[in-house]
Amino acid sequence: MSRNEMTVDTDAGAGIMTEVARTPASRREFIKGAIASGAAVSSASYMFRGPGGIGAAQAQAVGAVARMVTINVNGQDRQVDVLPQETLAQTIRYKLGLTGTKIGCDHSECGNCTVMVDDIATYSCSTLTHSVRGRKVVTIEGIEGANGQLHKVQQAFIDELSPQCGFCTPGQVVSAVALLKSNPKPTVDEARLAMSGNICRCGAYDHYLRGVMRAAREA
Ligand code: FES
Ligand code: FES
Repeated sequence: MSRNEMTVDTDAGAGIMTEVARTPASRREFIKGAIASGAAVSSASYMFRGPGGIGAAQAQAVGAVARMVTINVNGQDRQVDVLPQETLAQTIRYKLGLTGTKIGCDHSECGNCTVMVDDIATYSCSTLTHSVRGRKVVTIEGIEGANGQLHKVQQAFIDELSPQCGFCTPGQVVSAVALLKSNPKPTVDEARLAMSGNICRCGAYDHYLRGVMRAAREA
């Protein structure tokens, strides 16, 4: 069998290759077509990022169904219109206005979007909002005390000069609080492991680690 006769039926991407290989199109035309379709996919995914405006309209256009759901955030039941593919990060930032939760990588690598779901540190950028119905979500806005006083983790981070630019700080705080809920007296290694899902571009890892240990000591 020559290369141009090769067929692959099980993979969508390979299927495209197969179809191209069967036509007399030149290699240049194939590459131009592949680039054009890649650009179309990229721009569609960009437009779907925002839950409002064009993103929402596009989602409706492809058959997504908006639904009203109730989620418990920071101790309050909040009713919100959630698209099937909407992430928790999108919902809490853009629909509930809780912008303390940051979005960095948007695909489970940096930890900027960390919230607690049933007291477990969770990447909200990779959690569908529909999956947290009936569960308890706590964002950085829900960490402070009843009278607005700082949580001991927040105070410890200040005392250890942990935040530099501060972008990663909300996620670091939430991860540390989740750790101390399940393990109030962690070893340094346990704390380092628990915080390893939070990337700090400023490199203040030791400051954050010292903050966690200080908070544990002062608890
Ligand atoms: S934004 Fe969620 S892990 Fe980076
Ligand atoms: S303090 Fe700047 S990214 Fe961590």
